Amino acid sequence: MDASTTASTASPPSTTPAASATAADRTPAVPACDVLVVGGGLIGLVTAWRAAQRGLRTAVADPAPGGGAARVAAGMLAAVTELHYGEEALLALNLASAQRYPGFTAELEEASGVATGYRACGTLAVALDADDREHLRELHALQQRCGLDAQWLTGRECRRLEPMLAPGVRGGLRVDGDHQTDPRRLARALLTACERAGVAFHRAEAVRLLLAGDRAAGAELADGRRVAAGQVVLAAGSRSGTLAGVPADVLPPVRPVKGQVLRLRVPDAYGPFLSRTVRAVVRGGPVYLVPRENGELVLGATTEELGWDTTVTAGGVYELLRDAHELVPGITELPLVETSAGLRPGSPDNAPLLGPTALPGLHTATGHHRNGVLLAPLTGDVMAEMLTTGRLPEEARPFSPRRFSNALQELPA
Ligand code: GLY
Repeated sequence: MDASTTASTASPPSTTPAASATAADRTPAVPACDVLVVGGGLIGLVTAWRAAQRGLRTAVADPAPGGGAARVAAGMLAAVTELHYGEEALLALNLASAQRYPGFTAELEEASGVATGYRACGTLAVALDADDREHLRELHALQQRCGLDAQWLTGRECRRLEPMLAPGVRGGLRVDGDHQTDPRRLARALLTACERAGVAFHRAEAVRLLLAGDRAAGAELADGRRVAAGQVVLAAGSRSGTLAGVPADVLPPVRPVKGQVLRLRVPDAYGPFLSRTVRAVVRGGPVYLVPRENGELVLGATTEELGWDTTVTAGGVYELLRDAHELVPGITELPLVETSAGLRPGSPDNAPLLGPTALPGLHTATGHHRNGVLLAPLTGDVMAEMLTTGRLPEEARPFSPRRFSNALQELPA
């Protein structure tokens, strides 16, 4: 699942157009900034960190930075096992970000002093019946056409790799390049790195975009403060389409896609339970088990189009446990320590919206849907490049938010 919440800040930098002097007179002053990031989830934080590293005076507006979907996400970096037909362009973006993960992790851990839980452990996608096997065979054929590294294994070979798998497993795909990280620790690390890089945090929700003439010029916060900024990045996850003041044809078309996730614990006495991420499609729905080094076993996730609902339901928990039990029967012995639900920021084509909108000064970094954790390193890099040079890097251009805008305009070369 993906990251981000909402928020904002206010007050004019010398280079920034002033927003409504009358209203500003009535509200407390907030230091001006070059860049205001609305939303302090993973995507907002990584954007803010990279922007601050490039010398931009950066602020983040969010009532609870480091929260959002990252609190729920399993943290799979699954560019290859989550490949879908028709998403080859997204695959290239996902792979580019996956490649950056080791370097990104090392740099972030050095900058923050916080371990992120990155594990280069690989993934095994298995089939439980003939239909699942056919589905996996087709996925394997697509992976091969895309030049990806995935190895077909018999059921016996799968169980040799992961002895806790059900005896009925019919075969599987071994993908040694799909790894994992721990989104909660990643968010903590990014928060610390941002603070150390001088990012200002305004712990309130951004409720309205401020305009100066035909440009975005900051945001008004729920507590009445106004933050003026030279550029605004809308990185509020599934809520990115709800900020008042954004012209209708510029609002990003993101919607909440609910995911319920369970956390189990593998007691030390058990020894290794699973050594890598194990996943399957059971009755048409994906289920995955992500084993962390600290003994946590994350079990996800439902995919539900229920608007803003984040209720954990008996049905959701039942289905996850039922499907995971078919895959790895031993899970029923493990303590269930947490149930949670989060909202992925879905977009019409399942791909993110990165870069400048048709409204000058307003950028989006949202719509990452299932790939927010995976795409965090690349998103931070391309957004910081855009914010400092005015140019969106080539690899991000197919993902411009303008692909959904009625006010289509050329991107600056
Ligand atoms: N990428 C896993 C999920 O969104 O459930």
